[in-house]
Amino acid sequence: MTPLLEVRGLTIRFGGLVAVCEVDLALNPSEVLCIIGPNGAGKSTLFNMISGIYRPSAGTVHLDGRDITGWPAHRIAAAGIARTFQSSRLFNDLTLIDNVVIGMHSRTKSGVLDALLRPGKARAELEAAAEKAGELIRAISPDLHARRNTLAGALPQADRRRLEIARALASDARVIMLDEPSSGMDDRDTDALMADVRRVMAERPGLSFLIIEHDMRLVAALPDRVAVIDYGRKIAEGDFADVRLMPRVQEAYLGQKAAEHA
Ligand SMILES: Nc1ncnc2c1ncn2[C@@H]1O[C@H](COP(=O)(O)OP(=O)(O)O)[C@@H](O)[C@H]1O
Ligand SMILES: [Mg+2]
Repeated sequence: MTPLLEVRGLTIRFGGLVAVCEVDLALNPSEVLCIIGPNGAGKSTLFNMISGIYRPSAGTVHLDGRDITGWPAHRIAAAGIARTFQSSRLFNDLTLIDNVVIGMHSRTKSGVLDALLRPGKARAELEAAAEKAGELIRAISPDLHARRNTLAGALPQADRRRLEIARALASDARVIMLDEPSSGMDDRDTDALMADVRRVMAERPGLSFLIIEHDMRLVAALPDRVAVIDYGRKIAEGDFADVRLMPRVQEAYLGQKAAEHA
């Protein structure tokens, strides 16, 4: 099987720091792959290269066999990779619906001319987009759907994350990348959010997910495979049950605990 997303030898340097070093990854269609590793390991930087925010110093990224290395972020998004960020990026002054409509890649087919000459067509398309946005919000949370016409700025953290996930889904991407969906939340909010994420994933078996998760507790519940990044390098890959027992992986996490307690 050709991987849907294939990363080979991906490397980036910031001055003297090699933040990500020769990382290989393959994500198959319909697969969920978790990227785990201590803080500062290079996980978000890896996402930034795959999604076109950073240009790799070396290595390649292929989507469905096509070389997308170094493409700008908007082109990569259009090619079928959507993502969320570790710190939320919503338009606080827009409604939940509008935040999701913005994520739609082919928001409207009609252009400026249509808007002027055929306003009915443009309006119908916008209404269809808003309808679809509402369904995506409902899919991740009926509670959130009840607030779909309120401003995003008023949402608590877990709901901001839900909305960002709905927006990523709105793009019709084949690969959805989530950067630490649980970050900044307590255990209760995290558990509820992850239950919603797992349900959305189960309802969309055709999609592939690449999920960064720092919290080991959550990774066990996210299926398929994990890859462990430490100091910019991939140090292990496989079933979480096996990987978590590997001495190198335990050292990476224990090293971090020791650093936190120092
Ligand atoms: N734009 C940048 N300039 C310089 N250093 C960066 C930049 N982006 C990330 N880094 C560095 O790369 C390393 C990995 O960071 P990051 O990918 O955010 O880690 P993680 O997401 O695993 O916690 C860190 O040392 C970070 O300071
Ligand atoms: Mg990060």
